[in-house]
Amino acid sequence: MLVEKISEMKSVTKRLRFEGRSIGFVPTMGFLHEGHVSLIRRSKQDNDITVVSIFVNPLQFGENEDFDRYPRDLNRDLEILREEKVDYLFYPSHKEMYPDGFSTTVEVKGITEKLCGAFRPGHFKGVTTVVLKLFNIIKPDRAYFGLKDFQQYKVIERMVRDLNLDVEIVGCPIVREKDGLAMSSRNRYLTDNERKGAVLLSQALFEAKKMFDLGINDVSKLKEEMKKIIQSNPEVREIQYIEIVDSETFEEKVKAEKGDLIALAVFVGDTRLIDNIQL
Ligand code: PAJ
Repeated sequence: MLVEKISEMKSVTKRLRFEGRSIGFVPTMGFLHEGHVSLIRRSKQDNDITVVSIFVNPLQFGENEDFDRYPRDLNRDLEILREEKVDYLFYPSHKEMYPDGFSTTVEVKGITEKLCGAFRPGHFKGVTTVVLKLFNIIKPDRAYFGLKDFQQYKVIERMVRDLNLDVEIVGCPIVREKDGLAMSSRNRYLTDNERKGAVLLSQALFEAKKMFDLGINDVSKLKEEMKKIIQSNPEVREIQYIEIVDSETFEEKVKAEKGDLIALAVFVGDTRLIDNIQL
């Protein structure tokens, strides 16, 4: 069932809670793919009721980013949600979420300044603000986030801990295309040639993990190898970062250890893609 108004969403979930039903929540920006579906299936396994939200959140896009052209297709999304037997879709308008005079934000400090945060100022503040609003509207027992956006997952976990929110954050594994490319709504932007080149991102990550498993833990060596693999394709316009960091603090490592995160952001043509792997 589609719900567009905050007041209605609140009363629906209030009734469900009163009836003693557990609520799982999957926040998305739509243009759903198998990655989103994996979160939905996990939520359906764990909870009586699953609520999915679709909201392309202007607050988390930078001025020169792709808010205006972010892919949208509600009818296609509705079909997927029906197929997955999702109980409720929360689909608010921008006016509904950010009425005139809206002026409050919530910000996690520290870990939001690393990796993607260093290149997308204000991005995580936009994410935590909208996710906190959604949590307050839906008040879920559990909320599901993909490890594709590993930093986002950790930032949300931090917010929940710091602000004592009553929601369990569940991280779900990255879903990949057959050739290894991490699924993303933004893959839609890629031309055929760019799509072929994009496979090198995951290949570089897999190769680094293989080297690490063979005993090579020198971060500069691992990064050098990944760079070489990724730059071997002419469609790669810019490597924004390739980093090997502690997966809690996001501090850069000199020697890689088990549990560390290898994360990268690369422009393939005009499209910014991110991917990661945990050692
Ligand atoms: P969106 O990019 O639509 O992603 C919604 C959720 O799906 C996120 O938790 C993301 O990590 C997860 N996801 C995306 N691709 C995935 C993949 N290949 N495998 C597994 N999970 C995947 O992330 C956002 O939206 C927004 O920032 C949001 C949290 C909704 C706040 O606006």
